[in-house]
Amino acid sequence: MVRRVGVLTGGGDCPGLNAVIRAITKAGIMEHGMEIVGIENGFGGLIHGLFRELKSRDVSGILPRGGTILGTTNRDNPFAYPVEKGDEVVYEDRSDECMENFRRAALDALIVIGGDGSQSIGYRFYQKGMPVVGVPKTIDNDLLATDVTFGYESALLTATEAIDKLHTTAESHHRVMVLEVMGREAGWIALGAGIAGGADVILIPEIPFKVDRVCKKILQRVEEKKNFSIVVVAEGAYPEGGSPVYKTTFDGRKKLGGIGNWVAEEIEMETGIETRVTVLGHLQRGGTPVPFDRILATRYGVAAINEVAKGNFGVVMCLQNDRVVPIPMEKVVGGNKLVDPNGELVTYAKEIGTSFGI
Ligand code: F6P
Repeated sequence: MVRRVGVLTGGGDCPGLNAVIRAITKAGIMEHGMEIVGIENGFGGLIHGLFRELKSRDVSGILPRGGTILGTTNRDNPFAYPVEKGDEVVYEDRSDECMENFRRAALDALIVIGGDGSQSIGYRFYQKGMPVVGVPKTIDNDLLATDVTFGYESALLTATEAIDKLHTTAESHHRVMVLEVMGREAGWIALGAGIAGGADVILIPEIPFKVDRVCKKILQRVEEKKNFSIVVVAEGAYPEGGSPVYKTTFDGRKKLGGIGNWVAEEIEMETGIETRVTVLGHLQRGGTPVPFDRILATRYGVAAINEVAKGNFGVVMCLQNDRVVPIPMEKVVGGNKLVDPNGELVTYAKEIGTSFGI
């Protein structure tokens, strides 16, 4: 009998997280008579015992709000928790403390709303005996076993609007505009927004590109009297024979970013056409979820709490053929869903003249 259910949001935030928390809380209380306990700041809250009960009034009005009312982090992995020892950072296993805090809070189950990193941690806790159900989130849309993650459509809208705006200024100034978008090692955001925004060139990690092919496309457009071009670059894209571009964070971690500038410099040098770069960054993660994501997030939330009520653990709720179904965690973690270079989206985009730099 499941009475008290913990819920946390882990990893990078995205539009729709609050909609899931709301659905879990409402259905948990109203449909199943459960108590819902919010765990703050992702798995960090499980280590530090940051728990607070969520009542219906706590989730009132949060459906359209971006971010997460619970807070999140993509740093506090309880199985490899960074601790400063003198000048060094060492990684400690604090998962037993989490198990103890979970028991002390009298929780019967945990719902993990997160991407592949958070689901992998959730899976490890499940293997340690914690009853866990996962909900797939990420703007990157790169989770295995689910057709689409919530947050992706909202990020696409932001990226597509950016391309629309870049189009008008690119056309006025006869420039090349390079837009760098997020997505980690997957090109879903670049591909989706590139097609929706009518980009001339789309560069994704799944298709290593050649700079001369990118420039050929731009110069071909000039010959056709189209004196501007839009290039959308996924942050994880890289040239054939090269490697992705990273920057280092203040705490020494490597993060993708910078390929947009590199591509722009190459284009300017090879074509002589003035080129500008926009790095869209965290704008893609902010703001209100689009209706599709609000609906999907609500479906995921209700389906997750229903699965908890059934006592079916060790699963992630996934969207498959327009149905939300429980999929064993081991099938979801440990890999990424990538764009198929020979799939329909890429093929059709090529057929309307979009260049992938190959
Ligand atoms: O996974 C979501 C994401 O926004 C990626 O697209 C991006 O590479 C990363 O998170 C950025 O993380 P951070 O918020 O730590 O800069």
